[in-house]
Amino acid sequence: MNCLPLIEAKREGQVLTPEQISQVVSDFTAGSVPDYQMAALLMAIYFRGLNTAETRALTLSMRDSGEVLQFPPDSRPLVDKHSTGGVGDKVSLALAPLLACLGFRVPMISGRGLGITGGTLDKLESIPRFRTNLSADRIVSQVQTLGVAMVGQTEKMVPADKQLYALRDVTGTVPSIPLITASILSKKLAEGIQALVMDVKFGQAAFMATLEQARQFARALVHLATECGVNTRALLTNMERPLGRTAGNWLEVVEAVECLENRGPSDLRELVVACAASLLVQTGLEKDEAAARQTAGKCLVSGDPLSKWEQLIQAQGVNLRDYQLALKSYPMRAAYVTELRASEAGYMGVVNARIIGEVVRSLGGGRFTTDSRIHPGVGLDQMMQMSERVERGMLLCRVHAATEATGEAALEPLRKAFELVSEKPVISPLVQEVCA
Ligand code: URA
Repeated sequence: MNCLPLIEAKREGQVLTPEQISQVVSDFTAGSVPDYQMAALLMAIYFRGLNTAETRALTLSMRDSGEVLQFPPDSRPLVDKHSTGGVGDKVSLALAPLLACLGFRVPMISGRGLGITGGTLDKLESIPRFRTNLSADRIVSQVQTLGVAMVGQTEKMVPADKQLYALRDVTGTVPSIPLITASILSKKLAEGIQALVMDVKFGQAAFMATLEQARQFARALVHLATECGVNTRALLTNMERPLGRTAGNWLEVVEAVECLENRGPSDLRELVVACAASLLVQTGLEKDEAAARQTAGKCLVSGDPLSKWEQLIQAQGVNLRDYQLALKSYPMRAAYVTELRASEAGYMGVVNARIIGEVVRSLGGGRFTTDSRIHPGVGLDQMMQMSERVERGMLLCRVHAATEATGEAALEPLRKAFELVSEKPVISPLVQEVCA
């Protein structure tokens, strides 16, 4: 197809038909629309937007660009969770095995890092030999036997999202509500799930800067997903500050494993339990939120999700002994480790998630171009959290870098990311609202 008239039409703010959208998605996926034209169309969409019908058409044509999973009848509900993208957000890693232990089937298709936000696939691939490109048949059989599979878009499953996602990441076209909606829902609809919980982030490191924008987005997303037959709820969560004490692919895996071991930061545990509880209520397995939280919390600390996680990574190619060795020697995955220490005393008033996301990306934990190589071990750990007491000389965070030069260069912006105040600040709730 000649894509130019569509680019021009969208540039002028005109509405595209479902047929035009479906054609451009299938031609781009087949390789007959060049990246530079698709990038121009994405930028036109970024500025001009898509209406509800166009967003729906884009979502469905992206879903239909590849195979849709078909599961045999089973009493275990098919569910999933997806986040709009945050810094330090390793919730999916702990949540997926927990959901399988709660009696769900979880065919989780995730994405890579986008912009400054981390991606579940990059985190999983930081585990030596973890395979994220399973065939549709293999996903179905693993979900049937183990209850969970964690994979990425492939040439066969939602390939349109795989290609568009990579292009958006390096063309400044990530924070577009219709593009995010279509990207997320195309993957979720291809999973054939019955219920979905969305983690819609707002704040300086999120694609939605304000709570109001997140609310608008959540409503539109819940509406479209429900219309497509998926029972969907959205939790609106704070992304002014990073989640947990680590940011960076492998470092986040380590923290997610700590969560499964009933250790680690409480904000991470809170969000994992909130997502699981929501799905228990959405699918009718629990009657109310309080009971659901109790069930999910108990299961999380039982040790079963930890064993499930180990079975999952083994099923997807990981040698458990090598993985356990890597866990034991975890800081050593980066060649250079340095520290940021407090120059005065006070309370942690701001932990700026945007700066932290930018630093992790410059350390090599994210991408600037489609062929950027990810360094799995780089990032930050032992980050101070908001409202904690800080004494002069205390550790604010450790920096894991590929070289001394990149590690030392990270300290300068990081000094601005951690702001001390004299009075203990009140922190706003992590889950601010629920949109059903
Ligand atoms: N997650 C996705 O899968 N896609 C986006 O565009 C943003 C977050």
